Amino acid sequence: TKHLLGIKDLRESDIGLIFNAADRFKDVLNSPVIKKVPSLRDITIANIFFENSTRTRLSFELAQKRLSADVVNFAASSSSVSKGETLIDTVNNILAMKVDMVVMRHPYPGAGIFLSRHINAQIVNAGDGAHEHPTQALLDAYSIRERYGDVAGKKVAIIGDILHSRVALSNILCLHKLGAEVMVCGPPTLIPKYIHTLGVKTEYDLRKALNWCDVANMLRIQLERQDIKYFPTLREYTMLYGLNKKILDSLDKEITIMHPGPVNRGVEITSDVADSKQSVILDQVENGVAIRMAVLYLLASQRD
Ligand code: CP
Repeated sequence: TKHLLGIKDLRESDIGLIFNAADRFKDVLNSPVIKKVPSLRDITIANIFFENSTRTRLSFELAQKRLSADVVNFAASSSSVSKGETLIDTVNNILAMKVDMVVMRHPYPGAGIFLSRHINAQIVNAGDGAHEHPTQALLDAYSIRERYGDVAGKKVAIIGDILHSRVALSNILCLHKLGAEVMVCGPPTLIPKYIHTLGVKTEYDLRKALNWCDVANMLRIQLERQDIKYFPTLREYTMLYGLNKKILDSLDKEITIMHPGPVNRGVEITSDVADSKQSVILDQVENGVAIRMAVLYLLASQRD
């Protein structure tokens, strides 16, 4: 495939290739001497972000630099988008400066798909509205594989604001392709009606979800995407769905805690859980660089 627009376009074998490449790049990143390879030294990549980001933007940039690519960064808020320039004009102007690949985050679902039909460059989706966040799902599944040796047969509960989450959709698609079972859990108002069509279990009781799963992926309440009238108050949400140490210690098994970040500490998860030895939150971030190196390296090998 020329682009990475969503997990839906990947086969299980593609994900396997990405994981194998990520294994090799993790060795490079952990090397005490040279943390760089020359693989992309003839490639220029533009990171264009129309929405805020810490982890995704920095880890794409680090991955590109570790692969020896040339990198330019574009934040919409400080660009001529504020003067009314369109998405296609913006990207075509960046491409006129001889850019080969575009990594884009955008608030509108399908923005990457739209762009891939109108411009002549490889596109990597770094999150498009509430649609997909493919590299996040890949690094999440890779972190599960690292913890357990395999993703197949694992039970993963995705807990929280499923309705507004691109992480949830990409994780469901990726985990199913790798043979895991998936449950979503949260308030009924934050679980979309179509969710059963994706073949996931639905649970409204946090304790039941935690007792079922091997891995709990705790999602952030996306305050920036809420229609407030459908939303339980944050206090209600924390009372019913917040994960704290007391609940975690009351389970009859040790589960793994994940979170894509940014964490709303004290809302969906308490600090003592986020920072506990059961949490792999920072391992996810570390793996994000190796996964993004793997994705960029494999996409570059598909260039015309
Ligand atoms: N997980 C994630 O996408 O974080 P950022 O929004 O900080 O990139």
